[in-house]
Amino acid sequence: MGDVMRTMQQPSLAALVGQTAFMPDSDVSESICLEIEGLSKSFGAFVALNTIDLTIYEGEFVCFLGPSGCGKTTLLRAIAGLEPQSSGRIVQMGKEISHLPPQQRDFGIVFQSYALFPNLTIADNIAYGLRNQGHSRQALQARVHELMCLIGLEGSEKKYPAQLSGGQQQRVALARALATKPGLLLLDEPLSALDAQVRVHLRQQIKALQKTLGVTTVMVTHDQEEALTMADRIVVMNHGVIEQIGTPEEVYRHPKSAFVAQFVGNMNFLSAEVCSPTAVMLGAQRYTTQPHAFENKRPVHLAIRPEEVVLTSSGQADSQLEARVIHIEYLGAFLRLTCDVTSADIQLRVDIQHADAVQHQIQLGKDVHLALPAASCRVFRQDGN
Ligand SMILES: Nc1ncnc2c1ncn2[C@@H]1O[C@H](COP(=O)(O)OP(=O)(O)O)[C@@H](O)[C@H]1O
Ligand SMILES: [Mg+2]
Repeated sequence: MGDVMRTMQQPSLAALVGQTAFMPDSDVSESICLEIEGLSKSFGAFVALNTIDLTIYEGEFVCFLGPSGCGKTTLLRAIAGLEPQSSGRIVQMGKEISHLPPQQRDFGIVFQSYALFPNLTIADNIAYGLRNQGHSRQALQARVHELMCLIGLEGSEKKYPAQLSGGQQQRVALARALATKPGLLLLDEPLSALDAQVRVHLRQQIKALQKTLGVTTVMVTHDQEEALTMADRIVVMNHGVIEQIGTPEEVYRHPKSAFVAQFVGNMNFLSAEVCSPTAVMLGAQRYTTQPHAFENKRPVHLAIRPEEVVLTSSGQADSQLEARVIHIEYLGAFLRLTCDVTSADIQLRVDIQHADAVQHQIQLGKDVHLALPAASCRVFRQDGN
């Protein structure tokens, strides 16, 4: 267990992104932990969840990602039995739990507000769920010590929650949730109350801890970066339905809808008209795109991410757009240009490296040539989906 903190502190954010996004994850098993079938939930006439189907595998880290009010918490609470579904089934480890009360379900939960007991010491907070389980005093102490080491707070046993920082309190809440070794860890926006630096640090710690323990985890978040860096798979939700389920890379590289495309990452949407199964017209110019199923003449959006637009020298590639730089945003690691396309009434955001900015002498008012690589040109319908 001593190794855990060391592993927890080591990986850089970049390494974590790499791990989750681009390598098949061998820690996730083929066995199903949780099966959600046709789950719906209404509050009066309002449909908060509409026929949700979702399978979660043992050892997986799954994020529910979507805008505020899309039903993430409602779905998490249904899994916990805190908000009974209106219809549908939930099966955990082969056993139907749809109608079991929370205390008969096998999960630990952490909320946004740490919700620690202010009048109990850290040790007593962590031991809370272990009481009345017939452990000896010694066994209880040993388990609490083990958990304190796991979250890197050994020595703080006798402190009270108010004496800890927000990040430390949330680690205690995590230890409390894990104390009984639940089969499922549920996290509802556990990082959103913390400031930016603590948040980034703690998401690495939670991710490393989850991998070490192998506990199947579902985390609710509205923060795309959090989901991209932490999840094995992301469930993108909108208005009570699932828009897409996929690995971070699938969701980012191959968004299935315009909603997913713009909610996860940045995306330019350009009005266009279909002219073949692999091309659209942007004004008078033809652009080759990813294959799509829209009929000829249909108005669509050509979608391309700012970092996929290529800055070229004049006359270098086909399908060039002539544009003028009208805004430059400095974003630390890269620059985001807003470009006015000369031949059409459109603007394009373009992310470029500093070296490219220097090479192309980028400045306000500069005329540039932009290429839209076919492999990055996605086609979506114009009415949102
Ligand atoms: N107890 C409730 N009574 C009525 N409406 C609710 C209740 N709980 C949630 N809702 C509504 O259901 C929708 C989804 O809520 P929630 O699951 O909390 O969203 P999220 O966690 O994605 O922000 C929201 O429109 C919310 O107002
Ligand atoms: Mg919520």
